[in-house]
Amino acid sequence: MRDFIPIAKPLIGSEEIKAVGEVLASGMLTQGENVKKFEEAFSAYLNVTNSVAVSNGTVALDLALKALNLKSGDEIISPAFSFIATANSILYQGLKPVFVDVDPRTFNINSEDLKEKITSRTKAVVGVHLYGQPLELRDVKEICEDHHLVLVEDCAQAHGAEYNGKKVGSYGIGCFSFYPTKNMTTGEGGMITTDDNSLADSLRLLRNHGDTGKYNHVTLGYNYRLTNLQGAIGLIQLKRLDHFNDKRISNAELLNKKIKIKGIAKPFKMDEVKHVYNQYVVKVEDEFLASRETLMDYLHSKGIGTAIHYPKPIYRQPLYQQIRADWRICPAAEEVSRKVMSLPVHPSLRREDIEYISKIINSFGA
Ligand SMILES: Cc1ncc(COP(=O)(O)O)c(C=O)c1O
Repeated sequence: MRDFIPIAKPLIGSEEIKAVGEVLASGMLTQGENVKKFEEAFSAYLNVTNSVAVSNGTVALDLALKALNLKSGDEIISPAFSFIATANSILYQGLKPVFVDVDPRTFNINSEDLKEKITSRTKAVVGVHLYGQPLELRDVKEICEDHHLVLVEDCAQAHGAEYNGKKVGSYGIGCFSFYPTKNMTTGEGGMITTDDNSLADSLRLLRNHGDTGKYNHVTLGYNYRLTNLQGAIGLIQLKRLDHFNDKRISNAELLNKKIKIKGIAKPFKMDEVKHVYNQYVVKVEDEFLASRETLMDYLHSKGIGTAIHYPKPIYRQPLYQQIRADWRICPAAEEVSRKVMSLPVHPSLRREDIEYISKIINSFGA
């Protein structure tokens, strides 16, 4: 019997286990030396001035927006198609989300629609590099500059991804997640990256109760700290990240080559990017001989994990429907949420796993 092939699997090795053991033995468990070293290594990897470690990717986005000191009711743009945390970060701060449509090929922000949604009240864009492919940064960055908007990059799925040879998270304010399904993990964890030193100072204050030291609290902050245990894991995972990404890319290339069945649209990659395939996402087109759900059931019955990232545009989630029922429809987000299906692409897959996945898909209906 074959083992079930899960949709995601973190790779934790003996180095991480040893490092955690050392931290436990040291007794220095909370934010400390390992977190500092992890931040420095992350900045060097991205070629940015500051990295601020926090407890997860959601609070990374939350703090990035909070540190901008915006007014209640200011408008912030989010893609309509992403994980819900992208847009929730806007709600946490009492700001107003405005959804833009995505490009149905890349699943990322559609620059033309972005231009249309900007008003005099727009203050920032939260752009997502969905599934590991950088968004069209040349256009989006230019639009942000022309309209004096802050670009917050949601890099939760794109550690090590590049646009024109420069890493994501170094174009705007970068927000990363280290959840176990991501390209690198610390269990839970997050990072905010920026070249703006005064913004980084505010972020450091906000993550630790606004404390300038010795219980002197100058602003309303939080406990959003990362632990030293997580810092130790992060340092090692970061060293392994390029290798993990190379493996994801070669797995994706093999899937591209081997999957050959009418009605399954394979991922589109832009020329100017390094796509790091946090997810390998196909579209089950209307011409496919069965529904997406029937195909998923079949794959599960053959021991292959799949997922739908994500089944509806964010504005269709009950939470957002409670806020208002008349959101403007984003047609491409509607279409892709009906068609997308993620297949396993993680670095622990063997060549024979990829060949098996492709063979099973190709044999569907035969
Ligand atoms: C696009 C996106 N944004 C934000 C997050 C939030 O990260 P976290 O789960 O670490 O809070 C995630 C991860 O789940 C994500 O995929």
